[in-house]
Amino acid sequence: MFSLNGRKALVTGSSRGIGRAIAFALARAGAHVVLHGSKPSAALDATFADAQAQGLSVSKVSSAIGSAEELAEMRKQLELQGDANIDILVLNASSQCYMKVHEFDSSTFEEMFKTNLASCFQLINQFVPYMKEQGWGRIISIGSVNQERPAGRFSVYAATKAAQLNLMKTCAADFAPFGVTVNTITPGVIYTDRNAKTLSDEAFAQQILSKIPAGRFGAAEDCAGAAVFLASDAASYVVGADIAVAGGFQL
Ligand SMILES: NC(=O)c1ccc[n+]([C@@H]2O[C@H](COP(=O)([O-])OP(=O)(O)OC[C@H]3O[C@@H](n4cnc5c(N)ncnc54)[C@H](OP(=O)(O)O)[C@@H]3O)[C@@H](O)[C@H]2O)c1
Repeated sequence: MFSLNGRKALVTGSSRGIGRAIAFALARAGAHVVLHGSKPSAALDATFADAQAQGLSVSKVSSAIGSAEELAEMRKQLELQGDANIDILVLNASSQCYMKVHEFDSSTFEEMFKTNLASCFQLINQFVPYMKEQGWGRIISIGSVNQERPAGRFSVYAATKAAQLNLMKTCAADFAPFGVTVNTITPGVIYTDRNAKTLSDEAFAQQILSKIPAGRFGAAEDCAGAAVFLASDAASYVVGADIAVAGGFQL
């Protein structure tokens, strides 16, 4: 029911963090997984090597995302290595700055919308035609509790995540007749590189922990099970869902 044998997945931002954990879980369920990072890096190489050492079927691409040129670069790499047709697209990569609205300059604002939102639009348009043609596809978008609950210093990031969720709902309705499901996984506070520095402030970490009913921060692996489920045939009738993986932080 949860087997992904014969499927090919692309997980954006899987050089580390949540994307890496999801990529490994999809590969363990039988998929071939294309790992991705914003650029060639030691982290991407190490993730690739770890996956291979575990006997998982993986390949890798590296490219920033969000502009037409960057999409063309990724497409070129995928085509060269025979990975052009993707069955499972996980929209995970994003950038985040801890800044209030008045602290943003236009170019940082635009860069964040490009990476977090324009990339979703472009990657979906790139890979959905094949999914529709074969009558099977999965798009899994990684949201954030901030999509519903804005917080001052997450200002523009939260706005990109709200827009991403809205775009997924539209796509979910549009693609369901073709056997392509679109769903969102919404992490709470998951301990990764992105927040390691902020959470090293003990007083701040305790303040956040007091708002998480499960009593702990999440690990990247906590997000993996939901991704395997949504990617599998078991979830073929799950359309437009938003699954919080947040230990109750979203409540
Ligand atoms: N961690 C949390 O608490 C949390 C909470 C809610 C939602 N989320 C969401 O979960 C997802 C993963 O978060 P994470 O904490 O695992 O992130 P992370 O550890 O910061 O990793 C980010 C990944 O995205 C890639 N990336 C960043 N900017 C990129 C760009 N411009 N172009 C292409 N790739 C880019 C990075 O590639 P490089 O290695 O090359 O830099 C890396 O693989 C994100 O969508 C985030 O918004 C996370």
